[in-house]
Amino acid sequence: MVRLSTGVVGLDDLIEGGLKERSINLVVGQPGSGKSTFCIHFLIAGMKVGEKCLFVSVEETKEKFFDNMARFGFDLKSYEDAGLLYYHKTTVNELRSFLDQSVISFEQFITDGVTRIIIDSATALMLAYNAETSQRNSLMNLFEKLGKFPITTLITAESDEGQGRFGVEYLVDGIFRLYYRKIGQERVRTLEIFKMRGTDHSKQEIVYRLSKGGLILYPGEKILA
Ligand SMILES: Nc1ncnc2c1ncn2[C@@H]1O[C@H](COP(=O)(O)OP(=O)(O)OP(=O)(O)O)[C@@H](O)[C@H]1O
Ligand SMILES: [Mg+2]
Repeated sequence: MVRLSTGVVGLDDLIEGGLKERSINLVVGQPGSGKSTFCIHFLIAGMKVGEKCLFVSVEETKEKFFDNMARFGFDLKSYEDAGLLYYHKTTVNELRSFLDQSVISFEQFITDGVTRIIIDSATALMLAYNAETSQRNSLMNLFEKLGKFPITTLITAESDEGQGRFGVEYLVDGIFRLYYRKIGQERVRTLEIFKMRGTDHSKQEIVYRLSKGGLILYPGEKILA
């Protein structure tokens, strides 16, 4: 079983070495919790060893996104210049019109040898559909298409405790949850490996911080209630 490094220092050890090759994994969290940053760690781990990667954004322009990631010290432009990173800004309507015809709008990149792909975010994509069944069907459609290629996928979603998440959690192989909880007078960020098919994974919530260097785990830190 080939495992791909998540690029988050210390995380691979908690999931038997990394993400399973060809798996589809979800990163769920509140706005600003670090979902996109988590995904960039995963792409950089691949690009460092020469893998081609694709970031599909349903919301953010490349310029803004690259600028924001530069704050963490990630030089995405240099990977793009080296031909390792494709950034594809799409719209909800574009994705929907393609998916409705059983086509992925960014297929050209996948066939160009990409091995790691991010879809940021499923929540935005789902806004294109009103009925929950159409949302689920379109996601299943997308995942089925992705499954045909030798690629490993991370997809983000906003956490939404009230409404469920159009069943996406049942469709994916792995789920990382990012929390931002008020504990006493402070907010603490924690990461949980909620599900990982075929993997003996850690069940602990791990404290993390977002800072220069990106998403940094502090596995030794206990959360005091
Ligand atoms: N230089 C920095 N140092 C520390 N924290 C930072 C820095 N730059 C950004 N942040 C934090 O990172 C957060 C954004 O991270 P990221 O974009 O990965 O989150 P996200 O979950 O993808 O957000 P969204 O839901 O808006 O897409 C900001 O809300 C801020 O708290
Ligand atoms: Mg984001």
